[in-house]
Amino acid sequence: MTSADDLLDIATEIAREAGALAHRRRAEGVTIAATKSALADIVTEADREVEDLIRQRLSVARPADGFLGEESGGRPSGAEVTWVVDPIDGTVNYAYGQPAYAVSIAAVAGEPDPESWTALAGVVYCPPTGELFRAAQGGGAWLGDHRLRVNDDAGPAGALIGTGFGYDPATHEGTLDQIRRVMPLARDLRRGGAASLDLASVAAGRLDAYYERGLQPWDHAAGALLVHEAGGVVSGSPGGRPGRRMTIAAAPGLFERLSALLDD
Ligand code: IPD
Ligand code: CA
Ligand code: CA
Ligand code: CA
Repeated sequence: MTSADDLLDIATEIAREAGALAHRRRAEGVTIAATKSALADIVTEADREVEDLIRQRLSVARPADGFLGEESGGRPSGAEVTWVVDPIDGTVNYAYGQPAYAVSIAAVAGEPDPESWTALAGVVYCPPTGELFRAAQGGGAWLGDHRLRVNDDAGPAGALIGTGFGYDPATHEGTLDQIRRVMPLARDLRRGGAASLDLASVAAGRLDAYYERGLQPWDHAAGALLVHEAGGVVSGSPGGRPGRRMTIAAAPGLFERLSALLDD
């Protein structure tokens, strides 16, 4: 098997090229191509074009690998390595010209199922800021030459907690109820609008914690590895792997307190 570092190099190069394309298309003007399951669930031509580029580059660099992308779905797996791709995470921000969107690319071993996969390498690249967060299994999480570390100092003064609202309106009441429960722990709340960047922010200590229901594999594949490699804890609820039901990411000292409040 290729080393995680080699996979990370491939992901990094492709994410940079994909991010440059997204950035260019954004400057040319973005139109919403379709609204999917809900008003907030939109797709632009750029989402599709960027995913096509990533898929094409990976099929050349790693022809035997599997692929799972938000816009074009999966290719039959059974492969040793599968690439889990969100071409533009934060499409609503992207469509409105907000600078918080990212290309998220992860390489995982095993079935492309967060319940069982092992994340090998992950990149979250934010074109508007030029920041590229990266991690390879066992090698730490990095932003440039700065090694990332979660913030384990969130004391009684309260934590800065990121969250999001899933697209499914049926979950909104439950989400509001969770916010009520979490508030006593929070200095303040943030809704950044790009799950991969929220997770990268936890890894970088820019958020003390983040939680969200309804995430898909491509939303958290790379970001969860960043948090883990930065010394944080990422899980679903109760326990288990991050996933649709719940994703919670935090420094170890905060994780249990937050999880207890979010337990249904
Ligand atoms: C969405 C963003 C958003 C989160 C949603 C995701 P998309 O991804 O990460 O922050 O709240 O749950 O689906 O659709 O913009 O790639
Ligand atoms: Ca989407
Ligand atoms: Ca996403
Ligand atoms: Ca997306």
